[in-house]
This record gives sequence, structure tokens and C-alpha cells, in this order.
Amino acid sequence: MTTGAVVDRPHLPPAYRLVALDRVDSSNDQAKRLAEAGAEDGTLVWVREQLKGRGRRGRSWASPPGNLYLSLVLRPECTAAEAAQLGFVAALGIGDGVGSVAPPLVEVRYKWPNDVLFNGRKGAGILLESRMSPAGGLEWLVLGLGVNVASFPEDADLAATSLRFEGAPQDVDEVDLLEAFARHFLTWVNRWREDGFEPIRETWLHHAQGLGEPIEVHLPGETLSGRFRDLDESGVLLLEQADGQVRSIAAGDVYFGA
Ligand code: BTN
Repeated sequence: MTTGAVVDRPHLPPAYRLVALDRVDSSNDQAKRLAEAGAEDGTLVWVREQLKGRGRRGRSWASPPGNLYLSLVLRPECTAAEAAQLGFVAALGIGDGVGSVAPPLVEVRYKWPNDVLFNGRKGAGILLESRMSPAGGLEWLVLGLGVNVASFPEDADLAATSLRFEGAPQDVDEVDLLEAFARHFLTWVNRWREDGFEPIRETWLHHAQGLGEPIEVHLPGETLSGRFRDLDESGVLLLEQADGQVRSIAAGDVYFGA
């Protein structure tokens, strides 16, 4: 007879269908394969380690065991442009999730478009991938996120960090973060479904890094300078340039202190 504690982790709200794997190429690739095969909205692929973790713009995402890697299959009834707002929804899910497991000495800030900073350094990133239906609607969206819990890459483009390095308790692990994210994301995505983007936008802006400050935005083949003025009603960054003109930027890399 065996005795001992029943292992009941992770414990997720019933809205999710968990697919847990030890190792995979990329959880986003796995989630996309499942989405193509008809996986339901709420299918959550959680992996302990990725062999080919991917970031935005073709970058790689270091994925050793100990950090959180997950990809969520979503089938929202909305346009592709509206679905991009789910990156901001996910950022709030990460921010609130971190707030619930780490002490207040980890300050969370959001960096446009889809990064989360812990005490000013990148601690989490989000990668959205989608497929449109032949009729032009959204077939599925895969929302992938990586959170540095135990370790971070020393050689990243943007200075990186992890929850543990920033002083989170040693016993906080990636499963705690997974559970916390799943709960908070659900709250925020339901808010988004009911009330639209505005409450998401307001909360994100309240904790945004660099709002009102000089920034540089790197676009393919072009670098723009100005002040980070605002987000528009769909999540596009508004950059006020030196001549007073405001430029709308839908995608790019932001650098602070320009
Ligand atoms: C970025 O900041 O460039 C986005 C990083 C996204 C990384 C996550 S880890 C889980 C999921 N699977 C991947 O291959 N990428 C995303």
C-alpha cells in the first residue's frame, strides 16, 4: 500500500482543457497542430521544456525546465484586429498572476506591445499566432506565453530577469504561476468579452512602462523617435514626434530612454 499526499497540480478552472507535456519543439507549434485538428477553445498546452521555443520576429526563446511555457487555443468570435487585443489581456493575466504569488518587491510593468517587465527587466513575453477562415473570420488564435520563473537568458536583446532573481520566494514554481495566470486570465478575458477593450486598455496603461516619456520604435528598415503618448482604442501605440505629429504604430520594438 502506498500512502502520501495526492498530487493535484496544476489545478485549473474548468474552462480549460489541459494538455501537459514534458518536452516539445514549441508549445505554440503543438497548440497550432491541435487547433488544426479541431481542439476546443480553452485547450491549454503546458510544457516543462521546449526544444525550439520561439519569440516574436523569428527570435528564439530560451526554454529550459523551471520556467513557464504555455499556449492556449482560443476561438473568439471577433476580427483578427480585435483578437490582437488578447495579447494585452494575457499581459494583465500574467501581471495579476505574478502579483498573487510573488511579494510586492517584484514591480510589474507592461511594455508595448506584449512584454511584461519585472523591476524594469523583461520577465515574460507573449506570442500570438492565428489562422483566418476562407470567409475572412478568425478560425483560431494561439496565445503563447513564456514567464521566467527560475532562470533567464543572459544574452537576450533586452535585459531579462526572472521572478526568483527578483526575490520571489524560492518555493514559487512554474506550476504556481500557471495556476495563477489561468485564474486571472479567465477573469480578464471574460471582462474583455463583456465590456470590450476599454477596461483592459485603461488597466494596462496604468501600469505601462514609459508612458509620456521619450522612446524609440524600431520598425523594419526604420527607427522612429518621439514620446509614448497613448494607446488608441484598439491597442495601437501613438507616438508623438518632435514636429507634434502623432504617428500610429501597429507593430514594432520599443526602446526606452531614447
Ligand atoms: C517574445 O517576447 O518574443 C514572445 C515570447 C513567447 C515565448 C512563448 S514560450 C511558450 C510559447 N511557445 C513558443 O515557442 N513561444 C511561446
